Amino acid sequence: MSAERNRDWWKKAVIYQIYPRSFQDSNGDGIGDLKGIIRRLSYLEELGIDAVWLSPVYQSPQDDNGYDISDYQDIDPIFGTLEDMEDLIQEAEKHHIKIIMDLVLNHSSDEHRWFKEAKKSRENPYHDYYIWRDGEEGTPPNDLRGCFGGSAWEWVPQVKQYYFHQFSVKQPDLNWENEKVRQEIYQMINWWMEKGVGGFRLDVIDKIAKEPDRMITDNGPRLHEFIQEMSRETFQKAALITVGEAWGATPEIARRYSNPDGSEFSMVFQFEHIELDQQQGKEKWDLAPLPFLKLKQVLARWQKELYQKGWNSLFWDNHDLPRIVSRWGNDKTYREESAKMLAVLLHGMQGTPYIYQGEELGMTNARYSIEEYRDIETLNMYRERREKGYKESDIMASVYAKSRDNARTPMQWDSTENAGFTEGVPWIKVNPNYVKLNAEQQMQDADSVFACYQTLIRLRKKYEVFTDGTFALLLEDDHDFFAYARENQNEKMIVVCNFYEKMADCQYKEDWEHMELLYDNYHMEKQDHRYRPYEARIYYRKKR
Ligand code: NOJ
Repeated sequence: MSAERNRDWWKKAVIYQIYPRSFQDSNGDGIGDLKGIIRRLSYLEELGIDAVWLSPVYQSPQDDNGYDISDYQDIDPIFGTLEDMEDLIQEAEKHHIKIIMDLVLNHSSDEHRWFKEAKKSRENPYHDYYIWRDGEEGTPPNDLRGCFGGSAWEWVPQVKQYYFHQFSVKQPDLNWENEKVRQEIYQMINWWMEKGVGGFRLDVIDKIAKEPDRMITDNGPRLHEFIQEMSRETFQKAALITVGEAWGATPEIARRYSNPDGSEFSMVFQFEHIELDQQQGKEKWDLAPLPFLKLKQVLARWQKELYQKGWNSLFWDNHDLPRIVSRWGNDKTYREESAKMLAVLLHGMQGTPYIYQGEELGMTNARYSIEEYRDIETLNMYRERREKGYKESDIMASVYAKSRDNARTPMQWDSTENAGFTEGVPWIKVNPNYVKLNAEQQMQDADSVFACYQTLIRLRKKYEVFTDGTFALLLEDDHDFFAYARENQNEKMIVVCNFYEKMADCQYKEDWEHMELLYDNYHMEKQDHRYRPYEARIYYRKKR
């Protein structure tokens, strides 16, 4: 069956996320662009991925790097033109790669023509496209705060009202209660579908059905009604992959989003595992060690609860998160080993894996002085915490650990100046470790992190058990190993990962002699129960 005709093609797919600004510059302005991506399609094909999720390239004042859209049906000149976008879709197809666009539907830019109209007067037909409340200047309707700090309400003197914004003041929230807004959005989505895009990632989709008067921002009462309507009017007409970003999803909610009846999305990004290394009830900047047993429990629960009732996305990294090898691996002595271990651990599970640009090389977090950071969230937090009297060194420790810019440093292509990313001055500094850590070097090394990702992608396509096997967590209370078994009627697979630097003996008993070793990041010939630092193995057996 051709991929197109197979409605659930994305269950076997591996997706690669591109953050266009930082991927490949083609015109020397220091910002990555669409022509740059086209130049790198053969690299992506060689890696073996099926689709690319592009962070937003629409027209935007770039207050939040494109997540503030001023025209959903045009491309920002820093990235190219609409024609370049059409070329990218077509060229990618030649490399068997689909393009997934990022839809930011919770808010627009304040420079979108809808908002420019909306703030002219209360009678303007676009006024009700956004969320307004009466009040007195200086006294916002309530205490809701934006995700980037500060009040979620902004005063507009012209209409003597506050508008609601869950992100920056330049990202006013759209009013999904207004049917006209919804219809405009659906038309726009259909327009992109006609251009041949392979799917959509839906930015903070769990926030669209807000009810700010009741302090409801996420998972509002009409959320699933809106999503089902959108899905009916758009995505369901084609075999698209759709993935909603849903920070507030529990497995129960995710089963609704990813219901196999196709009434909502293919899957969501769920973040329970991602939020484990922060102090409970506090912000992501308030660091805490990773509770390893909890990580196992959480991932196992999602595997079990969505089995045949929904579908998981599998990811460690994205443009909002620090680099996994620096976060839960070891980016010094065992960078390669731990990057591979984390890859094996994730890619052996059920779901659709997402690789964030550079993760396939084991790219690491950066450590710059505060002037070199560009991210609005990081800079706002730095300012706020300074004002509150936090110690500079504590603030910087949080920045090094969690800043979104860790993921946004330019892609490391080769060892030439600026890592081959640009011939100009990069918009954000390149991580100096590019001299040794780059794609060119890894593509010549059969034992590189890149090669490990290639192998994992190949294995997923070859063995059904990766896609349809049950999941059972092994060694639940073990403090060194993350191990699990996957099984279908014909095959059994066991993944065993030593999660730490210390050598450790694996206590799990299995008839290893009768299992084939599909992958081992140490390429050991003789297998024993002793696992080296960050060693990861995949065992496999055909049952009949
Ligand atoms: C989530 C996106 O991933 C992030 O980068 C952005 O800042 C917010 N949504 C607001 O759109």
